[in-house]
Amino acid sequence: MSSMYNKTRVTKTISLTSGKGGVGKSTIAANLALHLTKLGNRVLMLDGDFGMANLDIMFGVNTRDSIESVLLGQKELKDVICNVGENIDLIPGGSGVYSLNRMSMFQKRFLMDQVSKLEGVYDYMLIDTAPGIDDDVLYLNSAANEVSIILTPDPSSVLDSYALIKVLNQKYKEVNFSIITNLVKDKNESIRLFRAISDMAEEKLCVHLKYLGYIPTDTNLRNAVKSRQLVSLSNPRSPSSFAIKNLAQNMSSINNISESKGGMQFFWGQMLNVA
Ligand SMILES: Nc1ncnc2c1ncn2[C@@H]1O[C@H](COP(=O)(O)OP(=O)(O)OP(=O)(O)O)[C@@H](O)[C@H]1O
Ligand SMILES: [Mg+2]
Repeated sequence: MSSMYNKTRVTKTISLTSGKGGVGKSTIAANLALHLTKLGNRVLMLDGDFGMANLDIMFGVNTRDSIESVLLGQKELKDVICNVGENIDLIPGGSGVYSLNRMSMFQKRFLMDQVSKLEGVYDYMLIDTAPGIDDDVLYLNSAANEVSIILTPDPSSVLDSYALIKVLNQKYKEVNFSIITNLVKDKNESIRLFRAISDMAEEKLCVHLKYLGYIPTDTNLRNAVKSRQLVSLSNPRSPSSFAIKNLAQNMSSINNISESKGGMQFFWGQMLNVA
């Protein structure tokens, strides 16, 4: 890790989140990480689902330690970070009921100390969150430079996503949102969904949403998940793999990282509310 140390690199922190569960956040996050590395980036993934973490499984590995032991002050961050692919590291999420609300100031300071060692190591940190608007999910999202919301054709998806945008904007002053549509038939359906939510956000909250792209429903992806593989590795020519590659390209062209809201320390400080 230290050989890659580069003080000028500011890590872009991007959360992948949704109002409802099972929309493809973890699958997209893992494949997106892979495509970002192919564009020359070093990526750190944070499994921000502290209750039902599964990102390690997406990469076909089983991790023993998780962020839970870090939050409890039992392990150092560097000891739980594991390498899951070329230029991809993962901070595994727990499988308990730990909440950021329960951390003492001492635990938070201890963690912040360790975070400073990660500064400049990664180009991206992708945060895979749990669905919904629980406190921990909101902390993770509000700490990220960019909140990417996964939208699906499910009838309640637009309203659920809007509710998430609304609380993040009104309570946490978040303004950087982008939309990824998943499980769609084609680009037309994707654009229709995007318009529905972006019109509502623009009109009611004066928030501008960016369009990042879409992923079609693809049985290759479903089969890859079942066999604990990344579709972009097992079936790189599949429609979903192409789509996520496109997503990675669009993501790298977003440049909204201001001096004041970039980097690892900002993210963790904000997440733990010690900034
Ligand atoms: N584009 C797609 N085509 C086909 N199936 C998909 C697609 N995207 C997601 N799925 C299916 O949806 C399932 C759930 O995906 P995933 O676990 O990534 O969702 P999630 O949003 O992370 O869920 P949770 O909210 O529970 O964390 C996958 O196992 C896969 O079978
Ligand atoms: Mg998930």
